[in-house]
Amino acid sequence: MRVATEPFGRSMADASKILLISGSLRKQSTNGAVLYTAQQVAPAGVTTMRFDGLGDLPHFNPDDDVPPLQPAVSALRASIRNADALLFSTPEYAGALPGSFKNLLDWTIGDDQSGSIYEKPVAWINASPRGAADAHESLRKVLGYAGAHIVEPACAHIPVTAADITGDGVIGNPGIRDGIAACLSRLAGRNAHDELVAG
Ligand code: FNR
Repeated sequence: MRVATEPFGRSMADASKILLISGSLRKQSTNGAVLYTAQQVAPAGVTTMRFDGLGDLPHFNPDDDVPPLQPAVSALRASIRNADALLFSTPEYAGALPGSFKNLLDWTIGDDQSGSIYEKPVAWINASPRGAADAHESLRKVLGYAGAHIVEPACAHIPVTAADITGDGVIGNPGIRDGIAACLSRLAGRNAHDELVAG
């Protein structure tokens, strides 16, 4: 079987540690539920970690992007360094990305290996029943600007409503769970054929 290799020489089959980042701060967040569920349905060999520090990040200011970094920024960058790939799930607010999530993304811009998303494989699950097209168009633009590698076959629109979320904060619907698992699998490079087709 051929294994898709990214332009920078990294085998997609190596992407086994996936960092999960929600763009919502809400306790009962549907996007958060998507990522909690991702932790339950991750395929064998895929390790998932959630970044829970969105609300702790300071407002991005290039003047503050010097050592010693604020602890929340260091934690974000360490999480990114430690991950082989990133999976995002974000709502849309007022036709755009949530400000707190864009702020997180601003802290990830850089051209070195110090915790930026430059050349990191990334994907998103759009859980909005309304489409949230503007937010995801913007997310694509920001990730492109950052030089992240968008893994197209792993990006999916999987509508989730509050009714899909069970009492323990995860999604019970088998079809949605399968869809989330497929995204993780594709992001981890388990479906090299799709990656080649998307080429
Ligand atoms: C929204 N919502 C929303 N949805 C959308 O598709 N386009 C939009 O522009 C907006 N704008 C918006 C503004 C404000 C102030 C609120 C409170 C909500 C709906 C929102 O995206 C939806 O409730 C998501 O489910 C929120 O995500 P979490 O928190 O459930 O993950």
